[in-house]
Amino acid sequence: MVFIADKGKVMSVKQCLEYRLTEEQLPAQWYNFLLDLPKALPPVEDVHVPPSAEIMARIRPAELLRQNAPSEQWVDIPAPVRQRLLQVGRPTPLRRALALEAALQTRARIYIKREDTLVTGSFKVGTALAQAYYAREEGRDCLISETGAGQWGMSLALASQMFGLKCKIFMARCSMEQKRYREHYMRLLGTEVAPSPSRATAIGRRLLEQRPDHPGTMGTAISEAIEAALATPGSAYLSGSNVNHVHLHQTLLGQETRAQLALAGEQGPDQMIACVSGGSNLCGFMLPFLRDKKEGRTISFLGAESTAAPRLTQGTYEYCSSDPAGYTPRVLAYSMGPDFIPLPVHAGGLRQHNSSPLVSLLKKEGVLDAVAIEEHEAFEAGRLLLRTEGFLVAPESAHAMAAAIRAAARAREEDREPCIVVLGSGSGMLDLEGYRQVLL
Ligand SMILES: Cc1ncc(COP(=O)(O)O)c(C=O)c1O
Repeated sequence: MVFIADKGKVMSVKQCLEYRLTEEQLPAQWYNFLLDLPKALPPVEDVHVPPSAEIMARIRPAELLRQNAPSEQWVDIPAPVRQRLLQVGRPTPLRRALALEAALQTRARIYIKREDTLVTGSFKVGTALAQAYYAREEGRDCLISETGAGQWGMSLALASQMFGLKCKIFMARCSMEQKRYREHYMRLLGTEVAPSPSRATAIGRRLLEQRPDHPGTMGTAISEAIEAALATPGSAYLSGSNVNHVHLHQTLLGQETRAQLALAGEQGPDQMIACVSGGSNLCGFMLPFLRDKKEGRTISFLGAESTAAPRLTQGTYEYCSSDPAGYTPRVLAYSMGPDFIPLPVHAGGLRQHNSSPLVSLLKKEGVLDAVAIEEHEAFEAGRLLLRTEGFLVAPESAHAMAAAIRAAARAREEDREPCIVVLGSGSGMLDLEGYRQVLL
């Protein structure tokens, strides 16, 4: 087997190195990085009637609310969750992208954390399993949530089956039309899928009256999912991003990466790059390294967002709600404003109007840099990765790849050899139609 590099150069597969951990090396705990933050998270503004805190106490499992601000540094992963994490493909490999490096003619060492290898095709399945488990432990029988591009919806659909629960997902209408296979996968698992805005909820009907061709957003889907959960006794409302317990569950990404870089003989990363929306892939990957920064190691953190929703690079740091019905509390975050409707780019997971308070604080405090990437550049980066390394990443992850390619080019200009670690948050095999529309 050979890989064909960009300029027709043929490379032996022996040059491709993948660092793998054994099942025993799957971390046993999640890392609570809140204790490492440069500043405490700002308080929320709870203006809804009844208050959002009261709504969340009804619809979210109590252990998840506790995990939004755990007092301990390490949070134990329950054994049934750990067992399912192994079943879906954790730990994921870390690839040294030698063929990509050769194509870019860089002396930077580029590593890619391969969340695309998980059975649902993205990192989201880790928190889905944890959340489904806690919901079942607390006696809930139905999981309700929203999804943008469908990666979170697929993960929750699988987790609901694994823990014997029903599942209902509201999916942003434009993403549902772009990514039908994700809908088919969820339905195959017995999950009910509705396009958002839908006629099933009062907020959905109101939005459709205002705009019958409403393309839907993460925000519309969040409002509908919460309304449905409030109306469904015994259900749990769960989230795929934006909230602290989700970021906590994703710290397996950073912990595994740390162990794998050590296997590769690296002292640690010089630069870490991930795509960013609510920020769960970025936080889970990077924040276990916050303490290294505190201890004096220079590591730069870079978030790649979409120019279709450039919150961190062009948005305002202001109090805003995550959903048009205002069920969620107003949080201090970088935002494009609650009425912002992004263009229906294929990276549906990056279209949210605001980022999470955590990511926003990191940006505000100068711990995190951000860059906005155009859709075409992202897809070209995804294509180059396929042609060099042989795997296709999701459009969201392709934004991180584009930022990594820019970083490698800069290193070449400046004659540096950094260790760049980039997160491949998901697989692009169900996004081929997007790749076709943009590149072919
Ligand atoms: C593959 C993939 N990567 C990244 C994201 C962005 O989410 P977050 O910013 O929470 O990591 C999504 C969101 O749906 C996604 O599906």
